[in-house]
Amino acid sequence: MGTVIKVEQLGKQYRLGEVGTGTLSHDLNRWMAKIRGKEDPFSKVGEANDRTRKGGSDYVWALRDINFEVQAGEVLGIIGRNGAGKSTLLKILSKVTKPTVGLIKTRGRIASLLEVGTGFHPEMTGRENTFLNGAIMGMTKAEIKSKFDEIVDFAGVERYIDTPVKRYSSGMYVRLAFAVAAHLEPEILVVDEVLAVGDAEFQKKCLGKMKDVSVNDGRTVLFVSHNMAAVNQLCNRVASLEHGRLKEIGETGLIVSSYLNSAGSKDAYVNFNELTTNRSGNKKVVFKEAYLKNISSPVKTRVFEIGDSISINFTMKFNNPNEKLVKTSIELKTSDGLKLASMIDIDSGFQVRFDSIEQSYEVVIQDVRLYPDTYYLSFYCGDMSSYETYDYIEECISFEIIGGGKLTSRGLFKMGGMFFFTPKWSVNTRALSPHNI
Ligand SMILES: Nc1ncnc2c1ncn2[C@@H]1O[C@H](COP(=O)(O)OP(=O)(O)OP(=O)(O)O)[C@@H](O)[C@H]1O
Ligand SMILES: [Mg+2]
Repeated sequence: MGTVIKVEQLGKQYRLGEVGTGTLSHDLNRWMAKIRGKEDPFSKVGEANDRTRKGGSDYVWALRDINFEVQAGEVLGIIGRNGAGKSTLLKILSKVTKPTVGLIKTRGRIASLLEVGTGFHPEMTGRENTFLNGAIMGMTKAEIKSKFDEIVDFAGVERYIDTPVKRYSSGMYVRLAFAVAAHLEPEILVVDEVLAVGDAEFQKKCLGKMKDVSVNDGRTVLFVSHNMAAVNQLCNRVASLEHGRLKEIGETGLIVSSYLNSAGSKDAYVNFNELTTNRSGNKKVVFKEAYLKNISSPVKTRVFEIGDSISINFTMKFNNPNEKLVKTSIELKTSDGLKLASMIDIDSGFQVRFDSIEQSYEVVIQDVRLYPDTYYLSFYCGDMSSYETYDYIEECISFEIIGGGKLTSRGLFKMGGMFFFTPKWSVNTRALSPHNI
């Protein structure tokens, strides 16, 4: 009992270059950026690790000045935006990589489930990998044997247990890897967000198993996730990382709500009147304000669950009225800056027209199916025929998808690649809000 993990002044510096970024999502995003001819989003991260800003240095502190302790039996959640350093921290704890500075002390055996592709040997079968992992963890053959049936049963991969794991689907792979890690009785179980590739039923089973391991067996669990609903449900304490630093650590409810309301994520209501950054256009037509809410509620919010219908409300002011059509579109980007969708009024058969000097509109994304993360919206309006830009405001409002009760992994969008929403556009005929003067 007592302290099982102690981290002191921990720092990890990476040299940037054409190496794996270390996470599957980053590597895929980098690949997507490449084939689209965009700049590699991870090739030039600056000295302070802010992925949204370019820097001059070839080095980056993925983690810096990290201090914390974890007690036996605790379930510690680790949250933070993409690139915050969560996976790096887990890798250092799991001894996959060494810290550049600082100390890390752990007590007991650690089983870790990092991203898909680590831990298992691709040419070996599920059975062989299970025994290999057990041996690495210091268990005897007899001990592993006694756990084997339970592992295979939990994973639900009996039919494939004698097939090389390179033939497994990513879901099957994670099922077996989780089952092995959780059943080999580690003192410390470390789980990165890989569970997201499993289906909803398996995710639930894993959350249950992690709870069980900590409550009944007094073992320690470290859990990284973007799914705030899962973090809320499972963790007693949460550490929030920001640009490689430990921003806050404490009671789950407090840290999660502070994260969801943090400065990096703007308010549910934005007034564009004074805004000049990330903005271009000749201002013949301008966006005045925008806000987000759940369709079923009058309250403005920027936190949604999967399955919610997101109502995007905005007001436009026509400074130079004439009879031409205005093309309006709303772009949706992931927190990695990849464009996921362009929601264009004309696609939906609806066209914004100059009917009055000012008009409010509502665009509804029904039954949203986005992977839990932060998303950014950009607003564009221009002339259809001359391609003149009237007003373009990039990444001016963001929202969080936090998972939630209706979570199913089927049809969730995580990686880049354009897809089409068929949002519903409408003129908002309700009285203009008091912000519209
Ligand atoms: N092997 C590597 N070489 C160079 N840079 C790396 C390497 N691994 C990670 N980084 C960088 O370190 C930073 C932290 O990455 P890390 O994978 O720990 O983030 P994360 O919080 O797990 O993000 P995500 O939510 O996307 O999984 C990022 O800027 C990343 O690009
Ligand atoms: Mg990660």
